[in-house]
Amino acid sequence: MGGNDDHAANVLARVRLLARVGEILGAGPVREDALRRVAELLATGLGAQCAFDLADEQGALTRRIATPDDFPVSPDAPHGPAIVLRTREPELCREHLCVPLIAGGAALGALTLRADALGPLELELGAEIARRVAAALDAGRTEDRYRMLFDASPMPMWVYDADTLAFLDVNDAAVRHYGYSRDEFLGMRIIDIRPPEDVPAVLEDVKARGGPGAPNAKIWRHVRRDGTLIDVEITAGRIRFEGRKAALVLAHDVSERMRLERRLADAEKMEAIGRLAGGVAHDFNNLLTVIAGYAEILQDRDGGEEAAEISRAAGQAAALTHQLLAFSRRQVLHPRVLDLNEIVAGMETMLHRIIGDDVIVATRLAPRLAPVEADRAQLERVILNLAANARDAMPDGGALTIETANVDFDVRYGEIEPGEHVLLAISDTGHGMDERVTKHLFEPFFSTKETGTGLGLATVFGVVKQSGGAIYVYSEPGRGSTFKIYLPAAERAPLAAAPAAEDRDGRGSETVMVVEDDPGVRELVRLMLEANGYAVLTAADAGEAAGLCAAHAIDLLLTDVVMPGVNGSDLARRLTALAPAMRVLFMSGYSDEAVHRHGELSGSEAFLEKPFTERGLTRKVREVLDSP
Ligand SMILES: Nc1ncnc2c1ncn2[C@@H]1O[C@H](COP(=O)(O)OP(=O)(O)OP(=O)(O)O)[C@@H](O)[C@H]1O
Ligand SMILES: [Mg+2]
Repeated sequence: MGGNDDHAANVLARVRLLARVGEILGAGPVREDALRRVAELLATGLGAQCAFDLADEQGALTRRIATPDDFPVSPDAPHGPAIVLRTREPELCREHLCVPLIAGGAALGALTLRADALGPLELELGAEIARRVAAALDAGRTEDRYRMLFDASPMPMWVYDADTLAFLDVNDAAVRHYGYSRDEFLGMRIIDIRPPEDVPAVLEDVKARGGPGAPNAKIWRHVRRDGTLIDVEITAGRIRFEGRKAALVLAHDVSERMRLERRLADAEKMEAIGRLAGGVAHDFNNLLTVIAGYAEILQDRDGGEEAAEISRAAGQAAALTHQLLAFSRRQVLHPRVLDLNEIVAGMETMLHRIIGDDVIVATRLAPRLAPVEADRAQLERVILNLAANARDAMPDGGALTIETANVDFDVRYGEIEPGEHVLLAISDTGHGMDERVTKHLFEPFFSTKETGTGLGLATVFGVVKQSGGAIYVYSEPGRGSTFKIYLPAAERAPLAAAPAAEDRDGRGSETVMVVEDDPGVRELVRLMLEANGYAVLTAADAGEAAGLCAAHAIDLLLTDVVMPGVNGSDLARRLTALAPAMRVLFMSGYSDEAVHRHGELSGSEAFLEKPFTERGLTRKVREVLDSP
């Protein structure tokens, strides 16, 4: 009976022992401290001495735990750990019991016990404990491997608590990329690395998804320790971390990509606005040609006050459409090879005058500046517009600096092609601008001033672009502004200004055929030419024009370039085949540069830009008729 009781007590003690071992191993990843506690438990519960030997990747054993410290069975003892590691079978001899630790098919090490009386019961118990220890060790090793992936990942990663949003763990890449130390990170919540204005959206996002973690990447803004904002693509997964609901986050910095995308979008936006503005200005020009032309005729007829008013208003409207054409890069430029230094120097006195006494104007002009090919008057307008803006930004005085320099780009820089360029930089010490303003700066009609038209910088933009250059702005609130214009350097040396074309009398008696689809413009041109002695035939389309050409001797064909169904240069080619002596003059609301670039004209043809006055028209007609 007593023997039975003994046995029962013994079994109970062992079951308890196993339960305790299970508790220790189940508490978390198993490392040395857990093994030590298991060893101590065996020592007290079983009265056994105990050792754990673990194998490294190459299979070499090291003693990790020994109770007592001088545990007598060495790893390579007969029937000891090295043997069981190889045979994968437990060994029981009188002095000790040795069991391999096997998990997932791998032998991880060995457990060795030493006690007075070792029998099958101890063997069974030892085997069971070894099995549990091995399983726990294996889980720990897997976690170590993941830990290594996390720590060594080149991409910033972190884990945060689903409920408190506090950082629970961060990797080295996050520390490097964000500039916070690990401890700083662990003292923060994920909303602390967001710009304050984004925090409500973050909280809303977490709530909407019923907790943290988003399988689909999403782009957010983060703040680095030094305050810089970065665009980050976030991918997150829900995990359990040390018993808590958490999210594992992968952060991919896409700031550079976003910057390029924004730049492209900006360029496309400006292109679209340019097309719209250019289209409106073009159609409006036709109307203005009619309005201004008839006003001129009325005025000539009876010298009326009212007609003069109409002329004046039409003149202002034409100036406005001109600015829009300038912005959309469709104004007529007269490029010459120029010395920018000379232009700036020539404007200094005028700049002093318009800028006022409390602003210092300084110039820093590079010696041996390369020439540029551009329209002189337009470049002066660019400088004037920039200087006027600078003055407006410095109501309490300051300094305006104009610099020139030779810059050689050996690789493409933004929209600037590689090669030699001339830089024109205009800086002020004024109130500067924030991002909201710099974003829209060059759009027509964007102004923050009560009386501003918002066309100043739109014109500058158009002129620079049409001249093959690029413009950049650098500004911050309270820090002044710098506008940098890069123009491609010209190969030829600057020429002296060409003499103005001599004024010709525009009258004549030749026969002119006007081909124009807009009836208003067609009639007006007829009136203007007839008033100056010409015989005029008019046609609305190609068919009509061909008919007239066959029936009459025509000296000059005056045709619109862009008409529905037919383009002016095709028409001219067809008609001059019928009448080889006939001269041709094209007219269009677009600049000759734009018309030529779009392939409508080849470049050598005579060209008249709309809107034109009677004088402008007849002078050009005369010039073409008189040309050799
Ligand atoms: N040097 C500068 N410093 C600060 N802000 C500037 C500067 N240059 C331009 N801006 C900002 O850009 C806006 C647009 O300038 P833009 O020259 O196109 O029009 P505007 O000056 O407002 O009108 P206008 O040229 O008809 O007087 C200005 O209203 C101003 O807010
Ligand atoms: Mg302005």
